[in-house]
Amino acid sequence: MRTQVVIIGAGPSGLLLSQLLHLAGVDCVVLERRDPEYVLSRIRAGVLEQGMVDMLERAGVSDRMRKEGLPHDGFTLSVTDTRLRIDLKGLTGGKSVMVYGQTEVTRDLMDAHRARDGKVIYEASNVAPLDFDGPNPRVTYDKDGTSHEIACDFICGCDGFHGVSRASVPDGAITEYEKVYPFGWLGILSYVKPVDHELIYANHPNGFALASMRSKKLSRYYIQVPTGTDVNAWSDDAIWDELKIRLGSEAADRIETGPSIEKSIAPLRSFVAEPLRFGRLMLAGDAGHIVPPTGAKGLNLAASDIHYLSEALIEFYGENSAAGIDSYSQKALARIWKAERFSWWMTMLLHQFPDLGPFNARMQQADMDYLASSHAAQVSLAENYVGLPY
Ligand code: FAD
Ligand code: DHB
Repeated sequence: MRTQVVIIGAGPSGLLLSQLLHLAGVDCVVLERRDPEYVLSRIRAGVLEQGMVDMLERAGVSDRMRKEGLPHDGFTLSVTDTRLRIDLKGLTGGKSVMVYGQTEVTRDLMDAHRARDGKVIYEASNVAPLDFDGPNPRVTYDKDGTSHEIACDFICGCDGFHGVSRASVPDGAITEYEKVYPFGWLGILSYVKPVDHELIYANHPNGFALASMRSKKLSRYYIQVPTGTDVNAWSDDAIWDELKIRLGSEAADRIETGPSIEKSIAPLRSFVAEPLRFGRLMLAGDAGHIVPPTGAKGLNLAASDIHYLSEALIEFYGENSAAGIDSYSQKALARIWKAERFSWWMTMLLHQFPDLGPFNARMQQADMDYLASSHAAQVSLAENYVGLPY
């Protein structure tokens, strides 16, 4: 088989890229190692920046998001019992974010692919990107006991942090920057009314907590837990009790509790691979970088990579110019590092770091006091939270 672009991974990055390329008349095939149900079962991000919302619109997959998504104009920071609302709209000249789950974004993209008979090959095993350092790259994979090969012009590695694409790059060609945090987020999803109409990020002496949502009837909550925590060690009741403590007394009085329908722990990590292009292989999304989830940048950063990458490929085929391909890595990384900085800063502000001692606790308090008293500090937080321009 031959195509113009092979995309490895059918998460949000891979499916969004495929959709945008299809609309521009570029032929592509997506290879995914899991089945569609498994991909949809992963509960992950929930907050979309304006730039990502606009991209979903351009990709023709925004109808349901427009109907069911919840525009949010602000959120609350709660430090012990001090609360500060960040007025995103007022501080950014009218910008806001959209609460709409990654699962729903992926489902909408899957539906769009199905409707146009888009080429997504699920349950493809042993996917291998080959010969991308020359003009004739190819990708091999196994499906239903048979080996296949696709010849192509470009390979896009959209296969997440543990994917095969980054792992296929020769060691000397890649530099990796990493910071691992000594805790994770224990998340639960529950059919209860959200405690507030906006998100609450809390830093309490017991640790971080986040009150988020997927709809007006479906809540998503997180608490900081030490690395190595067994998810089964936390009963639903214990999580609700802890949320009531960490979110502050005002929220505790109002919180509605119920059984969890999903419960999992995500580790926190900052990671960047440089560069993001190796000949005719380009990395995008979690394949190239990870942010800790504080600030909700992971999925949004994947979308901005896909913005630069889709434009580069469309320019290559439409205008016979490799300029966009040549500048992809540099353009994407400039935005990635700023989102890394913001996610790291929010993580440092809002979590308990037992190893960092009392000086760090004072720094957090000073940061909060500065935020509470400075319009400029709030503008900086808000412009990063709604998303820096592409
Ligand atoms: P992925 O979503 O990881 O998709 C990659 C796809 O590639 C997967 O479908 C995978 O099965 C496939 N794949 C992997 N290896 C291969 C292979 N060898 N061959 C073929 N296919 C392969 N971000 C937030 O903003 N907020 C959050 O709350 C949040 N929570 C998260 C919780 C967890 C547990 C994780 C892992 C991430 C979370 N993120 C969160 C980050 C966000 O979900 C990611 O940034 C986003 O999923 C990136 O999309 P992606 O398409 O680049 O990668
Ligand atoms: C969610 C996750 C985040 O990391 C965040 O900052 C806000 C919301 C969520 O899953 O709803």
